[in-house]
Amino acid sequence: MEWLYFFKGINVAAILDGKALSSRIRADLKVKLDQGINNGLPRPFLTTMQVGDDLPSTVYIRAKQRACEEIGIGFRHFRLPAETGMDALRKAVSEVNDDPSVHGLLVQSPLPSHLNEIEVQRMVAPEKDVDCFHPENVGLLYIGNARFRPCTAAGIIDLLLAYGFDPAGKNVVIIGRSVIVGRPLALMMMLKARGGNATVTVCHSRTRDLPSITRQADILVPAIGIAEMIRGDWVKEGVIVVDVGINRIPDATKKRGYRLVGDVAFREVEPKAEAIAPVPGGVGPMTVAILSRNVMNAAGYIDNYS
Ligand code: GUN
Repeated sequence: MEWLYFFKGINVAAILDGKALSSRIRADLKVKLDQGINNGLPRPFLTTMQVGDDLPSTVYIRAKQRACEEIGIGFRHFRLPAETGMDALRKAVSEVNDDPSVHGLLVQSPLPSHLNEIEVQRMVAPEKDVDCFHPENVGLLYIGNARFRPCTAAGIIDLLLAYGFDPAGKNVVIIGRSVIVGRPLALMMMLKARGGNATVTVCHSRTRDLPSITRQADILVPAIGIAEMIRGDWVKEGVIVVDVGINRIPDATKKRGYRLVGDVAFREVEPKAEAIAPVPGGVGPMTVAILSRNVMNAAGYIDNYS
């Protein structure tokens, strides 16, 4: 029994396993899809667009395709040349907007710098905007009447809720104010709704004395893209950490020459945490699961939350 004494006093955080949870969500969606098809609904269909050949984007799109194929959602990807202009992109988007067999359309970010990202977000028909990037959908989210839930933010909230960590009444500290993650997550976590009701602090590049703020967090959500920036002495005992960062660092022992790490120094923070979502295998797969759910929603299979 001596080994037991060895472990005594050493905390082991629960792992918020987004890979396992997303697999259960996909299985549930597949059941609903098969039922819907039997009841005469059209097969849900997602179209993705990519301008250029940004490698991480290609990897993310492949993950979206795999999820769709597993569930039975139809999928088509258009890769347009890097030099595609606004007019050509508008034409490609409006063709998909007008195609009634397509229920969800997303244009992968980042776009080449000559394209106007905000204008591109306005091109996608709001009822097909499964990213929830269109101003109409952002507005609906803002007033608490969302048509679609933003994929990464909703994935973070659903991961916390699935493990019994309701943000209600908690001090949530979000690091990063991006349009894709930080801003919608801050909004959703403060809304008077399921997964909300938190006291939210948003930190960013101009925040002074960041560690003094992160130490107050009951739930900490770093989404900044700086490898292992959050150190062990930046968090309090019992913190719940959802690491959104996906950073590549060189690693000669890996075949591909790099490995993925989050924004959190996992080995320092994990012993102090009650629960932690790792990178990879935490938020990433949840984002894709929510996207699939949004496509099913767009096709009339489910509502926002089921
Ligand atoms: N780039 C990084 N994340 C996302 C996402 O969720 N949607 C789109 N369209 N582009 C992204």
